[in-house]
Amino acid sequence: MKPVFDPTQYKITSKANWNTVAPEYHYNWADQQVGPFKSTVEIVKLAKIKPDDKVLDVACGTGVVSKEISQVLGPQGLLVGIDLSRTALGIAKKSIAFQNSNFIEMDAENIGLDFKFDKVTCQYGLMFFPDSAKVLKSIRKILGHKGMLAVAVHGLAEDVPYFSTIMKPILEHIPDIRPDGTPTVHRFGNPDELKSELTKAGFSDVTVVRYNFVYEPGTFEEYWDDYMRSTANSIRAKIESHGGTIIEKIKNDARKNAARYEKDGKLVFPWTVLAATGLNLE
Ligand SMILES: C[S@@+](CC[C@H](N)C(=O)[O-])C[C@H]1O[C@@H](n2cnc3c(N)ncnc32)[C@H](O)[C@@H]1O
Repeated sequence: MKPVFDPTQYKITSKANWNTVAPEYHYNWADQQVGPFKSTVEIVKLAKIKPDDKVLDVACGTGVVSKEISQVLGPQGLLVGIDLSRTALGIAKKSIAFQNSNFIEMDAENIGLDFKFDKVTCQYGLMFFPDSAKVLKSIRKILGHKGMLAVAVHGLAEDVPYFSTIMKPILEHIPDIRPDGTPTVHRFGNPDELKSELTKAGFSDVTVVRYNFVYEPGTFEEYWDDYMRSTANSIRAKIESHGGTIIEKIKNDARKNAARYEKDGKLVFPWTVLAATGLNLE
């Protein structure tokens, strides 16, 4: 029988997972601005941050968006970053010199900040919140009049083959790897659905921009090792419990899926990212 999705258990696992992978995530991906992380600069531009803005970065992780924001803010500005992962927040604190910044361990589904912000950013976080509608509504409430939300999410499975090349065979060979209803990284990859999600939460003038980035993970073997070590960290033990034969089958299928992205022995993956903005006009 397939396990039932439990949002609390999911968040506990998610927190532990990000505490494990945060350093690798930061130093190999986010801070290098490789592939999807080219959006870090774009999302801050879209948010039109002014030097005296009060800005909240939701699911700030290791602080790459926060860092970009801090470079625009002046002495009257304020920057608050919240995240579930203490390890990620520790990296953010160390890498950001801006004086008026605070990084707080907090669940985005229970934002306990009694304060009005001018801007809220959320890069690659929205899809991880089981009750994303609740998060968007509470973000709108902590924005002042004409305050802006800017979010970035990954595209659909076919537009982000880095994830789907290996995940698809995992799901085919181990269908109960995760309970039905578990949030996926592609959850808001459809521009119309992303727009509707923000509109339903009460945001006005919602716009969605599509970026087509590229990510080059090296050879198939390098991609496989990196994916299994970091991206699949939270499900690796479960995959390994099925034994080497299943893992070989998954790997063979993934290799076939990857073939169309190979150029001169190296993989070149397209990577679609959507960035949405919305205003609070209440
Ligand atoms: C892909 S990372 C994005 C981090 C950062 N925004 C960036 O662009 O590098 C996702 C982050 O979401 C955080 N996260 C997941 N669920 C969360 C929740 N319910 N509340 C706060 N943070 C959460 C994780 O701890 C992780 O740091």
